[in-house]
Amino acid sequence: MKNEANDAARAAQLRARLNRAAHQYYTLDAPELPDAEYDQLFQELQALEAAHPALRTPDSPTQRVGGAILDGLQPVRHRVPMLSIRTETDTSPKGAEVFDQRVRDYLASEQRRTLLKAHDERYRAEPLGPEALAVLAGQPVSYVAEPKFDGLAINLRYEDGVLVQAATRGDGETGEDVTQNIRTIRQIPLKLDGAAPPVVEVRGELYMRRDDFEALNERMRERMAAGDKAAKTFVNPRNTAAGAVRQLDPALTAQRPLSFFAYGLGEVTPPSEGGPTFGSHWQVLQALKAWGFPVSALARPAQGAPELIAFHADVAAERDALPFDIDGVVYKVDSTALQRELGFVTREPRWAVAHKYPAQEQLTTVQDIDVQVGRTGKLTPVAKLTPVFVGGVTVTNATLHNELEARRKDVRVGDTVVVRRAGDVIPEVVSVLADKRQPGAAEFTMPTTCPVCGSAVVREEGEADHRCTGGLFCPAQRKQALLHFASRRAIDVEGLGEKLVDQLVEGNVVKTLPDLYRMGFVSLAALDRMAGKSAQNLLDALQKSKQTTLARFLFALGIRHVGETTAKELARHFGKLDAVMDANADQLLQVPDVGPVVAESIHTFFQQPHNREVVEQLRAVGMAWPESEPTRAATLPLTGKTFVLTGTLPTLGRDEAKDLLEAAGAKVAGSVSKKTSYVVAGEEAGSKLDKARELGVPVIDEAGMRALLP
Ligand code: IVH
Repeated sequence: MKNEANDAARAAQLRARLNRAAHQYYTLDAPELPDAEYDQLFQELQALEAAHPALRTPDSPTQRVGGAILDGLQPVRHRVPMLSIRTETDTSPKGAEVFDQRVRDYLASEQRRTLLKAHDERYRAEPLGPEALAVLAGQPVSYVAEPKFDGLAINLRYEDGVLVQAATRGDGETGEDVTQNIRTIRQIPLKLDGAAPPVVEVRGELYMRRDDFEALNERMRERMAAGDKAAKTFVNPRNTAAGAVRQLDPALTAQRPLSFFAYGLGEVTPPSEGGPTFGSHWQVLQALKAWGFPVSALARPAQGAPELIAFHADVAAERDALPFDIDGVVYKVDSTALQRELGFVTREPRWAVAHKYPAQEQLTTVQDIDVQVGRTGKLTPVAKLTPVFVGGVTVTNATLHNELEARRKDVRVGDTVVVRRAGDVIPEVVSVLADKRQPGAAEFTMPTTCPVCGSAVVREEGEADHRCTGGLFCPAQRKQALLHFASRRAIDVEGLGEKLVDQLVEGNVVKTLPDLYRMGFVSLAALDRMAGKSAQNLLDALQKSKQTTLARFLFALGIRHVGETTAKELARHFGKLDAVMDANADQLLQVPDVGPVVAESIHTFFQQPHNREVVEQLRAVGMAWPESEPTRAATLPLTGKTFVLTGTLPTLGRDEAKDLLEAAGAKVAGSVSKKTSYVVAGEEAGSKLDKARELGVPVIDEAGMRALLP
């Protein structure tokens, strides 16, 4: 008796907690409970309800699909309810077998029932169709396997081929009208291609690509660093997409790059009234493609459980490299006749299942906050975590980017945090569970001296980053500088990797770059894990690396803002190292690709006596490269400027415009970035124009472009 009372109380507590979280998540777009914890509590409630069906009340979150309606957006009643999919709890590949077996078992039970009912006048059950009979005779079930996109479901209604309404899923019965917002999404056709039925509702997932999400957050970080109080970074692509689509102002939605995948249908004109017939889900996907919707290229037909398992594994292997987040895969019975026979349990079809992958967000605790020093002296706060399995790997570190970010998220030692690892992106702390904070936990502050070398730390005006001023005196910077110097695209010293550099710097064998070339066989062979043969190989590689090119040498010095391209331009322009070292900022500005910030950085670098000393010593140990006379190209009016062309210009063809610009010294690029000087826009300019406006890049027309030409 006592236990039953406890279970009932616990179920009520779970319902209240989960319902509040769902409201915050779905209705207010302000998630408070991390997904991982929500799932855990949800499963606990499901288990309780399974054990005691009497506890399954109508207000249980297990009995509904979503949240309530906000005041701002108009409710839309779905003509065909938007279902959810049952999640297979077994995350091992066996989950596919469990699902396949369940499908077969259900068909067998249906057959038994039809046989029984055949003798009863009151029922007259439909006999099973040929697909079901084939399965019962031992044929594999035909499925379609798809990724489970991590975004939000949307219903798009087309009448006579024209988009008339778009609605969110809401609670599955009633969603919200987001037509105006959806119209801003370019991947969604406003009019269907080809022959469209009188009425068709297309269902699919709205999401944000990872690169779009990263770029958006990068812009936000820049705005924050510049003091913009309205700027804030976003938590993850899914929440960003959900927030964007439910904006009251469509202009705001338009600024968020959203994408879409179609994967199903809602109401469709029936065949008896001239609508299409689809015998299989695969045919539906082909029709969606033909109407102009993006359909995932990963979706594929699968025969029986073995091919579902293969799909699960193939997609898992690709998951990190995909341009968008997925949280699992979905298996769907292909035949629509079989789907009908399988039917539904409450709000979930028996013919589909979601098979999840390990979560990309997890809870863990912060053991410490370290500050790491990079090659250019940039200080990065890094949270040291209690190891946690996220997105398929064990994560022990998560970047906090910079002081502003660390403070904004307010991460403190001892905190319980949500860690996210998606794709190849470095693991990040997404948020802190404030209610779990230990009393007395101190706010994070950036050290005022370098944690590695003790030199002063500075933060320049208008920059988000703190830097150590120690230069090559700082062992952390020295290690990074050595690794950069020896890297393949710089001096290319084979075999000089991270472990070795750590030993060389920590053992004080190498204090400066030239020291590399002063190491002898004896000191090298004395190092850990350094057999005589590897020591000799390294000496040979070092010897070989002394012959290089001026461009590689300049790049290898690790001057701030001097990448490979700039190094090449400098080498070509000046021909000789001494000419580069003695150039003043004005002379440096003559080099294509070099702007005021870069010129200043190069000039300052070579003004420092210790840097000149390093260069002299490298020459003294025998580093050499061919030098040439300066090929000072006559500077052209548009040298150093980058243009992007978009749309149709009134008189010039695209190639003509490109030739004219290049002849005047400009570069013509294919995509718009912060570095673009001008976007030349003609008729029907597309997303490049939007991007230019977003980044504040000047937009000119053909006449404006001609005015810049000589
Ligand atoms: S089919 C009856 N296919 O998962 C099946 N859903 O829990 C209806 N989702 O609301 C949905 N990828 O937001 C389907 N390839 C996919 C999906 C997918 C993601 C989401 C969708 C849906 C939820 C169901």
